[in-house]
Amino acid sequence: MAATPLLEVRGIDKSFGPVQVLHDVGMNVYPGEVTALVGDNGAGKSTLVKCVSGIYTMDAGTVVFDGDQVAIHSPRDAAALGIEVVYQDLALCDNLDIVQNMFLGRERVRGIVLDEPTMEQMASDTLASLSVRTVKSLRQLVASLSGGERQTVAIAKAVLWNSRIVILDEPTAALGVAQTAQVLELVRRMADNGLGVVLISHNLNDVFAVSDRIVALYLGRTAAQVKTTDVTHAQIVELITSGRSGNLGLPPERPAAAGFLDITPGGGRA
Ligand SMILES: Nc1ncnc2c1ncn2[C@@H]1O[C@H](COP(=O)(O)OP(=O)(O)OP(=O)(O)O)[C@@H](O)[C@H]1O
Ligand SMILES: [Mg+2]
Repeated sequence: MAATPLLEVRGIDKSFGPVQVLHDVGMNVYPGEVTALVGDNGAGKSTLVKCVSGIYTMDAGTVVFDGDQVAIHSPRDAAALGIEVVYQDLALCDNLDIVQNMFLGRERVRGIVLDEPTMEQMASDTLASLSVRTVKSLRQLVASLSGGERQTVAIAKAVLWNSRIVILDEPTAALGVAQTAQVLELVRRMADNGLGVVLISHNLNDVFAVSDRIVALYLGRTAAQVKTTDVTHAQIVELITSGRSGNLGLPPERPAAAGFLDITPGGGRA
């Protein structure tokens, strides 16, 4: 396993108006590894990813990429570093084919015309490098693809741009068993090709099957960063649901916050 992280985020704070969503969040991503980012609904996973990818501006925090501190102010800045995100909603265009989708907004031109042969070759090479064999034709409209195939195209699109880090926000949430297995294989292969992969998932079986490390968020804080082989399924469940597990995780709640979690009859919960 690599000793130095490719991406190191530290001390990220992010608020939306009066609501602070991220508190002093840290996360390391190593090349050649899958880092699973886990946490309950609303824990801040997508917000963290959007800060790292330049969609949101963080209120505080530093990002170190490949040893250098960097400023990421826009998705363009993130892309220039080689950070690509595959979002939950995929953002593919149904009415375009696979090649058109993979090059959308970054089309290759030769003179004044689109360089279709080059784009087709690059798309084909990328899919081949990921050992994708299920796609029949690169000129197929994305509307005609299955959920798993769409996910594959979205991932291949992220890999195409000399990416160094690919972040996947719940890539298997809407998939069946066989398609999930295919996408997880793809996730593993990206890491084996040397990329730093971040996998957001609610499915701990998937997380344990494919990840090298796990970062657990709890109410907008980093509860733990651990090697997958050092923890059990039950420990991760505890970290997700209570922010702590044995000697892992956040310090015990301060009394001031306890009223919020009071679930005794007539207690604080409405
Ligand atoms: N643009 C926004 N404006 C205000 N609040 C927001 C915004 N985006 C996210 N939040 C809030 O921030 C918190 C974290 O949301 P986020 O989407 O990051 O969670 P998540 O961990 O990705 O959850 P899920 O597993 O459900 O996708 C939530 O309470 C959410 O309501
Ligand atoms: Mg989310």
